[in-house]
Amino acid sequence: VFGRATEPFAQGKRAGQLARSLQAEFSIDSVITFSDAWSYWESLSDFLHGAPIPKPLDQQLFRGSHPKSSEYFQGIETLAHRYAEHVRDWLRASLPRTPVQSMLDLGAGPGIYARTLIAGEVASAATCVDFDYVTRRAQTQAEGRISTVSSDLFRLGLPNDQSFDLIYVGNVLHHYTLCDNVRLFRRVRRNVAPDAYLVVQEYLLEDWPTVSPVYAAILGVHFALTSPGGRCYSPSEISCVVGQALPGFRYVARHNLGASDLLLYWCHRQ
Ligand SMILES: C[S@@+](CC[C@H](N)C(=O)[O-])C[C@H]1O[C@@H](n2cnc3c(N)ncnc32)[C@H](O)[C@@H]1O
Repeated sequence: VFGRATEPFAQGKRAGQLARSLQAEFSIDSVITFSDAWSYWESLSDFLHGAPIPKPLDQQLFRGSHPKSSEYFQGIETLAHRYAEHVRDWLRASLPRTPVQSMLDLGAGPGIYARTLIAGEVASAATCVDFDYVTRRAQTQAEGRISTVSSDLFRLGLPNDQSFDLIYVGNVLHHYTLCDNVRLFRRVRRNVAPDAYLVVQEYLLEDWPTVSPVYAAILGVHFALTSPGGRCYSPSEISCVVGQALPGFRYVARHNLGASDLLLYWCHRQ
C-alpha cells in the first residue's frame, strides 16, 4: 500500500519518509501479500463507488478453503513470534498472581502466544480454540499442557464446569462487527473463573480519530475490505463490547507492543 499508494507523490520527500517509517513500524504490504488481498485493495475505488465486495477473504483463509491459507498462517506465525515474548513479559509483570491455572485462547491460530505464556510460567495450561483447519495445522506443535478445541467461536459450547482464569483474544475482534464481537464473548461467559483476567490484543484506533496511528487506520481499511464487517476499533469500543457481553470485567491497563496494543480487564468476583 505504502509502496504503491505513495508512488504518485514519490517526489515529495515527506511522503517517502512517511512510507519508510510506517513500513519499518509495521509492514502492511507483507500483511496484504500473505493474505493474498492485493486484488481487494486494487478494487478499493470500485467498492467505494458501490461495487459489491466479494465473499469475505478472511473466512476462506481461516477455514483452509483458500489456496493461500497455508501462507497466510505462516505470516500470522511470523507476526506472533515477533510479539509473544513481549506479551509474556508484560503479563508476568502485570498479573498479581502467576502462573494462572488455565488460559483460554480464542482464535489462537498457530498457538504461539499460548506456548510462550506457558513456557514463561504466565499460565500453567491452555485451551486453544480455532477452526478445524487451524487446530489440525497447529496440532503437531501442541504439547501436553495445551489442548485444542476445533470450533467456530460463534458456536463454541464449552462445558459449563470448565472455567478459565485468563481469556486471551488476540487479533480476532477486527475480523467482526461490534455486535458479532458481543456474541463471540457471550459464548464463554459461563466459563469465566472468579477473579479472571481478559486480555485483548488489537490494532487500536484512538477514540479521537485524528490522533490514530496511521497503520491502524490503514489496517482498518484492510479488514473492512476482507472481513464480514470488521475494522479496527478504539479502546472504548472494545470496552463497550466487553461490558455488554461479560459484565463484571473492568478495564485495568493498556500496553503498547509497537503496532498493536494489549488491553487488560479483570473480573473481580467474590
Ligand atoms: C489474525 S489470526 C490471529 C491468531 C492468533 N490469535 C495470533 O494473534 O497470532 C485470527 C485467528 O482467529 C481465528 N478465528 C477467526 N474467526 C474465528 C471463528 N469464528 N471461529 C474460530 N476461529 C476464528 C482464525 O482462524 C485465526 O486463527
